[in-house]
Amino acid sequence: MSTIRTAYRSAILHSIGDPDKVGMENSYEYFADGAMIIENGIVQGVGNADEILANESSDITVKVYENKLITSGFIDTHVHYPQTGMIASYGEQLLDWLNNYTFPAEGKFDDPEHATKVAEIFLEELMSNGTTTALVFGTVHKASVDSFFTQAELRNLRIICGKVMMDRNAPDFLTDTIESCYEDSKELIERWHHKGRLHYAVTPRFAPTSTPEQLDVAARLLNEYPDLYMHTHLSENLKEIEWVKELFPERTNYLDVYDHHGLLSERSVFAHGIHLCDSECQRLADTGSAVAFCPTSNLFLGSGLLDLPRLEKFGVNVGMGTDVGAGTCFSLLSTMNEAYKVMQLQGQALSPFKSLYLATLGGANALRLEDKIGNLAVGKEADFVVLDLAATPLLKFRMDNSTSLEETLFALMLMGDDRVVCETYVYGENRYSSL
Ligand code: GUN
Ligand code: ZN
Repeated sequence: MSTIRTAYRSAILHSIGDPDKVGMENSYEYFADGAMIIENGIVQGVGNADEILANESSDITVKVYENKLITSGFIDTHVHYPQTGMIASYGEQLLDWLNNYTFPAEGKFDDPEHATKVAEIFLEELMSNGTTTALVFGTVHKASVDSFFTQAELRNLRIICGKVMMDRNAPDFLTDTIESCYEDSKELIERWHHKGRLHYAVTPRFAPTSTPEQLDVAARLLNEYPDLYMHTHLSENLKEIEWVKELFPERTNYLDVYDHHGLLSERSVFAHGIHLCDSECQRLADTGSAVAFCPTSNLFLGSGLLDLPRLEKFGVNVGMGTDVGAGTCFSLLSTMNEAYKVMQLQGQALSPFKSLYLATLGGANALRLEDKIGNLAVGKEADFVVLDLAATPLLKFRMDNSTSLEETLFALMLMGDDRVVCETYVYGENRYSSL
């Protein structure tokens, strides 16, 4: 890590609040000619270049980005690294897709070499898309998580991952037991949780693949170690929901399965949550749990349309997830594009500043990491991206017609993907460059 004090000069935009709570104008800071000071991986100053640089000694290194936009690194609140190689698998909805494509692909992750190779591809893909933090599923194999954390640590990313817990309704080669899931998870927690920038998530795949006894083991782990995350799927697909009813007839609804076993808290993240009743929304809000909105996946698997304003009305924290490999891309910009269309189909709009919030500070809030990441405020970790608003001829042409920041940001989200990401910085270090 560099101990040099460096200034980055460029247009700078970052989210500082939820537009629905603080109003659009108060939800962001924008400096057309901005500067950001980084030292030891931490933001030391951000503002108008004239003012910020006037306070610095004349020998400070200044890196100037012409015609670029700096913003904070994107946060993916739900993604599966072992599904990287099976993204875009054709023709099925959730339960058949799991059986026909996902489980066979995940079966290979007992091999640490395979796991390492896929982890490397996945992490490089995150960074080339400007994503600097993610909440990630491993597979049932301990080796999958060991390999993944090893690679994440090498890149100094703030990453959360966990071993999948699955002791029924899956092929034998992918199931664990009450004893092995406890022992393996415990070993991984002790090795990786809070090591550098890494965190561990207790990860029951979803209610249908865990016995009630295994869900109790998940709760036991959460009680034994501080600040663990709980990461699972919830109410994604109608057939899945029917199946949960059959498997847990004594529970009042899908969320109640997790609730009954003590798995709801401020560090619980539920992917999807599309088909929830009012009492489930209320319970998520009351417990401080978060939902990961995964529009590309929800459309790809035909799962449904998330009613984001309804969840927010209940006070549920929401972050954005790509959910690769059911999700169809790693780019949070493309994910915003699809989120916008999901909202349109429900007669709602999603403003570009709200999208920026969800993909950055909102994700940090959902993951309870807002004191460390999510924007470029002084004291935050310097995870940021340099975007090129003229990355393609069409994008440049469109931007030349833009008359406001709001319009520019919206076009960037609708048209942008990894092609607009020039550089990605992780804790002040340049980890990806297309320049
Ligand atoms: N539900 C249980 N497992 C999965 C998975 O791997 N992907 C998605 N999208 N939903 C799930
Ligand atoms: Zn998922």
